[in-house]
Amino acid sequence: MPRVRTRHIAICAVILLWVYYFLPRDEAFTYVYDYGHGASHGSTVAVARYMNDPEFIPLIIATQSSFDWSSVNFTYPPKLTPKLPATFTKRPRIQHKFKRDSRNVAAVQEQRRLEVKRVFEKSWTSYRSRAWMKDALKPISGEYVDQFSGWAATLVDSLDTLWMMGMRDEFYEAVAAVSTIDFGESTTATVNTFESCIRYLGGLIAAYDLSGHEVLKTKAIEVGDLLYAGFNTKDGMPVDFIHFEDAKRGVGLIVESQVVSASPGTITLEFSRLSQITGDDKYYAAVSRLMDVFYQGQNDTQLPGMWPMYVSMSKQDVVSGYQFSIGGNADSLYEYLPKAYALLGSVDASSKKYEIMSRTFMDTAERHLFFRPMIPGNEDILISGNVDILEDGPTLDPESEHLSCFIGGLYALGGRLFNSKKYLDTGAKLARGCAYAYRSFPTGIMPERYNMVLCPGPDPRKPCAWDEEHYTTAAAERVQYKSYLPKGFTTAKDPRYILRPEAIESVFILWRITGDAVWRETAWEMFQAVVNATDTRYANAAIMDVNVIGSKQEDYMESFWMAETLKYFYLCFADPDLISLDDFVLNTEAHPFRLSKK
Ligand SMILES: *[C@@H]1O[C@H](CO)[C@@H](O)[C@H](O)[C@H]1NC(C)=O
Ligand SMILES: *[C@@H]1O[C@H](CO)[C@@H](O)[C@H](O)[C@H]1NC(C)=O
Ligand SMILES: *[C@@H]1O[C@H](CO)[C@@H](O)[C@H](O)[C@H]1NC(C)=O
Repeated sequence: MPRVRTRHIAICAVILLWVYYFLPRDEAFTYVYDYGHGASHGSTVAVARYMNDPEFIPLIIATQSSFDWSSVNFTYPPKLTPKLPATFTKRPRIQHKFKRDSRNVAAVQEQRRLEVKRVFEKSWTSYRSRAWMKDALKPISGEYVDQFSGWAATLVDSLDTLWMMGMRDEFYEAVAAVSTIDFGESTTATVNTFESCIRYLGGLIAAYDLSGHEVLKTKAIEVGDLLYAGFNTKDGMPVDFIHFEDAKRGVGLIVESQVVSASPGTITLEFSRLSQITGDDKYYAAVSRLMDVFYQGQNDTQLPGMWPMYVSMSKQDVVSGYQFSIGGNADSLYEYLPKAYALLGSVDASSKKYEIMSRTFMDTAERHLFFRPMIPGNEDILISGNVDILEDGPTLDPESEHLSCFIGGLYALGGRLFNSKKYLDTGAKLARGCAYAYRSFPTGIMPERYNMVLCPGPDPRKPCAWDEEHYTTAAAERVQYKSYLPKGFTTAKDPRYILRPEAIESVFILWRITGDAVWRETAWEMFQAVVNATDTRYANAAIMDVNVIGSKQEDYMESFWMAETLKYFYLCFADPDLISLDDFVLNTEAHPFRLSKK
């Protein structure tokens, strides 16, 4: 449908003049959305009249993708049960009952909120002018890169942040651009299920849940059906990478022999919410059957209650491996269990498993993964480590990473969902652990991956006094030890900070759940440190070494900077009713899905 640009421009001009001519001459004015900076497919200009009405929704019509993913004829048609269950009749309360801030405090928070927005606007403006419709902006050179199939990942990922920050013009301009994304073509021969699910499907669903704009639902269904085609396999288990052309032809896809557990484990929220929105049970049924495999295997692993980092969906083997972590590769498998419970409730057998899996893994991780490191002060913190099953049983390695920092917020959420003070306390200690790690390094930011020292004694959660000799000995055993590391840390194995959100994510959730103002102060400290170190001419960049003030930067800014990191910072200083945790559950890319009331 694309073709002649000049003719388009002419038609647009005519429409514009026409609309302008008929406009009532009061405060109404014309909105024109023309993204035209190289949209790959189609062209839509939405013209709308805005009558000073914040509820106003402009007319934007989706351009259908060049392939209709709902028309695929499956070699292995997935089963259509279980059906989507009814959710909670009465939800457990999640958020703290906030009182109004005093006028002075409110003024400070308002200033902070605007400062976060200013930083976001800078990134967004650069993306818009230099990388529009591309997956990511390169924040130093101002160039761009496509790394997620070329469907404008940063744009889709940022939609709901634009909405939350009240940037309605920019939001609808972006929606108009979304209306032309062609999910029938990909820049790569295979499409990553996990990344497409959390960024594209998650981003579209959330933007739809917030704005109600039908274009977003239409496009969410297109991506949803594309990902659903990844379940066209002999046993109905999803592939990790969808071979694009094979998937279109409906030939059976071959499931990989080994994948990281987070890949198949991070579809539940998106598919369940898509079923809720569309009334079509097929997405829920597919992912529920997948999660049954995890449910059945949960107590048969080498660390019963948790799953190994690598699993085989082709053999439906989620029990054999020996490495356990809630960090990278596994993280969102765990994250999605309590959150699925929040979204789906626990009223029928198919949804009840999320509650059972949640409680079971939370008890196991608490017992085996978390430790109080040996530190010079007496902060009440916990860090999440890794467990390997060796000959003499589970062995805790006090290594952690930025990705693990989501776990504090998740335990706090679990504390509310399952009415457990213990989970909530553990969550606060874990979140404090990450804040402690941020504060410990000269830049005020924690490294991507690091090691600390276990307290001697049988219970690694029990605090111990600082013992210089013990620390020095432990540090000497680490080849990556550097004498300039902050005391308590024995490595900064990967000293980068790549704009990740997990620490501020937990701080945000603790703030909303406890209402303790200390979390907001922590958030502000972290924000200043992050912006200070990552600011570039165009936006914000990853840094090479958190040990070095003025560290070299890398020409790299993933879409999660605007989708997650800045969103969480913003929400820490905004009105607590904005994206209340009693109304929304956030996916692993910080996209809020509305909790249906019934
Ligand atoms: C699926 O089969 C129907 C009926 O034979 C056909 O019309 C349709 O084009 C097929 N879909 C695809 C994607 O080939
Ligand atoms: C796994 O063990 C927990 C108790 O530790 C139990 O509640 C749960 O039902 C078990 N899961 C299965 C599938 O048997
Ligand atoms: C930013 O970094 C500089 C050193 O490069 C430091 O002097 C300053 O205090 C930092 N500002 C904030 C807000 O952290």
